[in-house]
Amino acid sequence: MLKRIKRNWYVPKGQEPTDFDKRILSYQNRGELVPTRKLIKTPEQIEGIKRSCEVNTGVLDLVEKEIHAGMSTEDIDKLVYDYTVAHGAIPAPLNYEGFPKSVCTSINEVVCHGIPSEFEVLEEGDIINVDVSTILDGYYSDASRMFIIGKTSPEKEKLVRVTKECLEIGAEAAKPWGFVGDIGKAIEKHAKKNGFSVVKDLCGHGVGLEFHEDPEVDHYNTHHNGMLLVPGMVFTIEPMINMGDWHVFIDEEDGWTVVTEDELPSAQWEHTFLMTEHGLEVLTY
Ligand code: MF3
Ligand code: CO
Repeated sequence: MLKRIKRNWYVPKGQEPTDFDKRILSYQNRGELVPTRKLIKTPEQIEGIKRSCEVNTGVLDLVEKEIHAGMSTEDIDKLVYDYTVAHGAIPAPLNYEGFPKSVCTSINEVVCHGIPSEFEVLEEGDIINVDVSTILDGYYSDASRMFIIGKTSPEKEKLVRVTKECLEIGAEAAKPWGFVGDIGKAIEKHAKKNGFSVVKDLCGHGVGLEFHEDPEVDHYNTHHNGMLLVPGMVFTIEPMINMGDWHVFIDEEDGWTVVTEDELPSAQWEHTFLMTEHGLEVLTY
């Protein structure tokens, strides 16, 4: 059977291929998955995405300053909404595919996509992921951090630390003219070495002109190259690392909240990155 590969890159009829075109086509002709032209951002688009990221980082800095035991996740949602709107931006999660709030707040065994609620109050020892995404002038940014409420157990502390290391190690593994698959391979190795597992059902993603673009960025070893990484691509890396088993399920009642099957804690850190000639640049610091 003739296996058809996705031919994402083409040179418009009547146009001479540039050296850049030729370089991408050489990978495509070897059967590798390459980006579409739209995934390679123009300098103007990159400026817009960077401005969006600045607001997004401002939101996370504010949450970091204000978060404390006794606060509800609804209080966090209000902080996020007010700051974002005051800076002329829109919280990307709000009404996204029916998501009812401005931010995702995921405590302990909640992996991601937790919905803020006035009835959910932060307690001493909780670990919480706050996942913030912003639209400014049509440009999207996306980042999340973990916060430890007061003092927690050494195991949960280690999970939060190792998950941050997974993000950093994954980012270092991503090289221009390398492959998306290098990222997950490096992350899984570090997670396993520390006795933890990597969630497989959710991935990082291209971002910038839309909330979720190609490529899919898996955080585990898929044993596939995945998409070619080319300077100008913007995407997230956002590993979700579990203390126990990697299996998760979605809460049937709200249709969003992702929870570990074994109810052991999970952590996640996320940045939006720009691929440059020299490697990844973090846009959400
Ligand atoms: N911020 C999440 C991500 O990293 C997406 C959340 S979608 C939402 O991709 F609707 F739950 F907000
Ligand atoms: Co994301």
